[in-house]
Amino acid sequence: MGELDGRTALVTGGSRGIGRAVALRLAAEGALVAVHYGGNDAAAAETVARIAGAGGRAFSVRARFGESGAVDRLFKELAAGLADHGADDGLDILVNNAGIHSVSPIGQLTEEEFERLLAVNVSTPVFVVQRALPLLRDGGRIVNMGSAATRIADPGQIGYTVTKAALAALGPSLANELGRRAITVNTVEPGVVLTDMIAAYAAVPEAMAGLESITALGRVGRPEDVADVVGFLAGPRGRWVTGQTIDVSGGTYLGPIAPG
Ligand SMILES: NC(=O)c1ccc[n+]([C@@H]2O[C@H](COP(=O)([O-])OP(=O)(O)OC[C@H]3O[C@@H](n4cnc5c(N)ncnc54)[C@H](OP(=O)(O)O)[C@@H]3O)[C@@H](O)[C@H]2O)c1
Repeated sequence: MGELDGRTALVTGGSRGIGRAVALRLAAEGALVAVHYGGNDAAAAETVARIAGAGGRAFSVRARFGESGAVDRLFKELAAGLADHGADDGLDILVNNAGIHSVSPIGQLTEEEFERLLAVNVSTPVFVVQRALPLLRDGGRIVNMGSAATRIADPGQIGYTVTKAALAALGPSLANELGRRAITVNTVEPGVVLTDMIAAYAAVPEAMAGLESITALGRVGRPEDVADVVGFLAGPRGRWVTGQTIDVSGGTYLGPIAPG
């Protein structure tokens, strides 16, 4: 028996990368998982198939954040998927993970680029939370996917960093509003994690070596490193943690690392 048996979960951006690992983790604990994605049908189908292959339950939900009507589409498909699986429309876990990145210092950041970052990384999650609240059962969980970029100053991704700081700012206020219903709200901030999002960066050995050299645990993150923390926060053992921002970077850039 899993600790999330009988629970339902929505993982945005659950088709690939960190979101896929989160979806697999929650399903492995028994949750029925809605695997949201933006457009890559094959990746979403693979995630659902991997969950089913491991004996879990999942379905995919397609909605391209940033397009008009995306939140409506998401919740319509979510309701249909839950009903197909014999569940009511209640939700226990919401993981706001879908996000996009961009590489621009302040001098090159365009208005269009920043608007898109805000739309996908901030506005849509805010309204996903708003729409999820009437469905969220007492004792529920919200986990937002921030980034350690808000702690580690990198001028080259300033637009992205600002959106992740905004997303993290949701946590304490929501936690205060929802605490009396035993709903927790937390933000997880990964360091660099090997996914498609950073594929170009990961292809440069010097960049990866540089990252390893400033990370206390001596390597770059894997999606499962983050998914295990999300799984803890989403499960019963995370019940007493709320309104927090949790660094999940293996100790990236904590300070000078002693040689040897
Ligand atoms: N990788 C890192 O180093 C790292 C570090 C810190 C924080 N994060 C954060 O972790 C989260 C996941 O990152 P990742 O590296 O796993 O990314 P990824 O591998 O690029 O996967 C992104 C996921 O989000 C979905 N998505 C992207 N744009 C979307 C849109 N406009 N509408 C709907 N869905 C969309 C994708 O679905 P489709 O493929 O169907 O579009 C996919 O499921 C993001 O919020 C990211 O900012 C990542």
